Amino acid sequence: MSTGTQARIYRPTARNLELLAKRLQAGELVGVPTETVYGLAANALDAGACKQIFRAKGRPSYDPLIVHVHSLTAVSEIAHLNPAAIKVAKKFWPGPLTLVLPKTDKVPLCVTAGRDSVGVRMPSHPVMRRLLALTKRPLAAPSANPFGYISPTTAAHVTQGLGRKIRHVLDGGPSTIGVESTILDLRDPKRPTLLRPGAITRKQLEKALGRPVAILKRRPTSKGPATGEVAPGMLTRHYSPRTPVSLHESLARLNLSERSEAFVFMRKPSSAARNIFWFDARGNLHGIARQLFATLRRVDALKFRRIHVEMAPAGDLADAINDRLRRAAAK
Ligand code: TXA
Ligand code: MG
Repeated sequence: MSTGTQARIYRPTARNLELLAKRLQAGELVGVPTETVYGLAANALDAGACKQIFRAKGRPSYDPLIVHVHSLTAVSEIAHLNPAAIKVAKKFWPGPLTLVLPKTDKVPLCVTAGRDSVGVRMPSHPVMRRLLALTKRPLAAPSANPFGYISPTTAAHVTQGLGRKIRHVLDGGPSTIGVESTILDLRDPKRPTLLRPGAITRKQLEKALGRPVAILKRRPTSKGPATGEVAPGMLTRHYSPRTPVSLHESLARLNLSERSEAFVFMRKPSSAARNIFWFDARGNLHGIARQLFATLRRVDALKFRRIHVEMAPAGDLADAINDRLRRAAAK
């Protein structure tokens, strides 16, 4: 599937937003900015449009899409809210949290990969919010990368990966959080389960819900979903550079003079060379998350034989960062 031409990048002017809202209403795909990563959006109530998302990304049809909404009232059209969901939604929306809830009949089954639940998120990015308001539709949007590759955090990343498969990319600047939303399964409000760590931490969710949040234990392998119960997109191998990645608690003992291999530190190290990189000069976890995927892309493009990456020190965002790094390193 190819459009034959390179996608156009639109600045977020009022005119462009109106134009892109019309394109979405007409069933076309648009690359969109969010605070976590860029998404590849389509009208979530239009099965034909959503099928195109799977085609453009090369995404397997068993991997359900997240649906983005503008307001809490818009949620009730697509999902059945329960009191626990309303509690966390009021606390963390708009923001980097996706809730898995029982779906309504309005949501096409291809969006949810045949499940009776749907992932819902109200993003906080002001440009995305304006687009949602103008489109007046819930927007299904997975990360806007070819399936399995590193998620995009700029409009340019989107066109690098999908430029010939889609026509429109809305530029809202670099994503400020940099890792995908936290996914919380609230189908059963008495058994909240964390499906994917993100910027909203398990601790924060437990505090808001007033009960423990379980962590999804069994992860499907890269071959596909193990059961119908788990998040099938939580594939072990994901977010992967083309260059093999090795993870280390510390890079201190490695031989950095091996110039055919890259070394990526959490913070700026004292030694400098063309094979030495870092995520954030001061090792700030928010800075690391923001630069995580862009740095991996940059180093991947330099075609080293291997990329050695340091893991994040403990901290609120460390779970999300280390989760993405583990999957980038998975064979
Ligand atoms: O931050 C984000 O969540 C970004 C931005 C664009 O909003 N989106 C994103 O989408 O990361 P994606 O498709 O790359 O990851 C969505 C994950 C998948 O792993 C999928 O399996 C899971 O959400 N998911 C979606 N609906 C689900 C459902 N009904 N039950 C379980 N997991 C679900
Ligand atoms: Mg993704």
